[in-house]
Amino acid sequence: MSIFLGIDIGTSGTKTLAVNEQGEILGEAAASYPASHPQPLWSEQDPEDWWRATVKTVRAVVKQAKLKPADVKAIGLSGQMHGSVFLDKNNEVVRPALLWNDQRTAAECDEIEQRAGGRRKLIKLVANPALTGFTAPKILWLRNHEPKNFDRTVKILLPKDDVRRRLTGEFATEVSDASGMLLLDVAKRDWSKPLLSKLELDPSLFATCYESEQVTGKLTADVAKLLGLTTDCVVVGGAGDCAANAVGNGIVKKGLLASSLGTSGVMFVHSDEMQFDPNGRLHTFCHAVHGKWHMMGVSLSAAGSLEWFCQQLCQELIAKKGVDPYAVLNQEASHVPTGSEGLFFLPYLAGERTPHADPLARGCFVGLTLKHSRGHMARSIMEGVAYALNDSLQIIRELGVPVKQIRVGGGGAKSDLWRQIQADTFGQKVHRINAEQGPAFGVALLAAVGAGAYKNIEEACAATIHTVDETAIDKAAAKYHARAVPVFQQLYKSLAKDFQAIANLG
Ligand code: XUL
Repeated sequence: MSIFLGIDIGTSGTKTLAVNEQGEILGEAAASYPASHPQPLWSEQDPEDWWRATVKTVRAVVKQAKLKPADVKAIGLSGQMHGSVFLDKNNEVVRPALLWNDQRTAAECDEIEQRAGGRRKLIKLVANPALTGFTAPKILWLRNHEPKNFDRTVKILLPKDDVRRRLTGEFATEVSDASGMLLLDVAKRDWSKPLLSKLELDPSLFATCYESEQVTGKLTADVAKLLGLTTDCVVVGGAGDCAANAVGNGIVKKGLLASSLGTSGVMFVHSDEMQFDPNGRLHTFCHAVHGKWHMMGVSLSAAGSLEWFCQQLCQELIAKKGVDPYAVLNQEASHVPTGSEGLFFLPYLAGERTPHADPLARGCFVGLTLKHSRGHMARSIMEGVAYALNDSLQIIRELGVPVKQIRVGGGGAKSDLWRQIQADTFGQKVHRINAEQGPAFGVALLAAVGAGAYKNIEEACAATIHTVDETAIDKAAAKYHARAVPVFQQLYKSLAKDFQAIANLG
């Protein structure tokens, strides 16, 4: 019997799955941890929490599924992208990791563009412009603001790759996650020596870069004992959570797009060739499919917007025993007509990545009247998030990337209403698939490929993933959204200067 583990080190917690060769889930466990926000635009986590959660969830899965240690052949790692783990020569972290949604690095983004010889030259080198969420600006921030910590740093790892280091003792990464550091030559699928030199960053700071299904090491003896596994268990490259989620949704060939409604929202499209957006609005990264690429747009607060609303403004729902607050919000929102009777929500609670690349953008309700209820607000959040994702879809279509099928996933896609709003906004039906575990499932499949159970990831996906239902467009609603989208887009344009003015108030 061959079993594969997928471990996803997310922002709110870590999830571990055990999967067999048929893709059946034998066990799963999750453990959560906090993020800290020491200043308004900052977002940090303690890498120790990721390790603790990894150990806890792997042990729980091994116990729950009664796995025989020798049956667990391989582990795949997925993780929140772009985070920066700074390690000293003793492998101690020099400070908490800066996360993907940390927005403190606007000045360093300017510095990178300037050192690269301008935005266009930077895009030529690494396929993407400098964005506050990416890793390279975080490294420069450390050098500019905490020089002593920078001087102590000998290795810089992404979140899942720090967990890999503790599992295997190896400093390794893989192409999909490394692309989001803004230091990878995405066309050549290896570090960009020219950019590292322009940024005066020593190549020895970075890990060896593999393809996603390749074996990067084996469990150390101590860790194997701790987890209840063996030292024959290999750890494959895995993927950044976006590519891992795409694999877990079977987005491994041309024409397929995944729309994911997690804390962040991601529109992810497979691409056989390396294509990039000359305006740098979409990201072009290596895919977890060997030798392929993808483009994606990221909305920083997607299901995270509804979660914020629920946590901050629906305390009495949360307090009610036996009540799922999200089910209540869905129910109330479903009684509100399409368009929320003129109420718009801009989901820029953490600034916005695609298409605005604006850390100062802010969340807003626009158009409130005395008539609007909590249900209106919940619905307008769902619509605003769908409109924000649609901004990415519009650019993908504009660049001529084919989108034959849209597969929806992530926590938000469990809502019938939110799926319907997505189909109506995108003007294209959306599908769900049989596998709901996204990133953890995707990297478990990559582990299966690395262990030789499948020839490649395309074969693994074809054997285990299929669509189970579809949500057709409601024509009248689609017509309304087609008229509302330009209004939504104009709202950001109108408010951008005001967001700047708000930031200037200090
Ligand atoms: C992708 C991104 C987020 C994180 C969240 O570019 O920043 O989706 O990976 O996990």
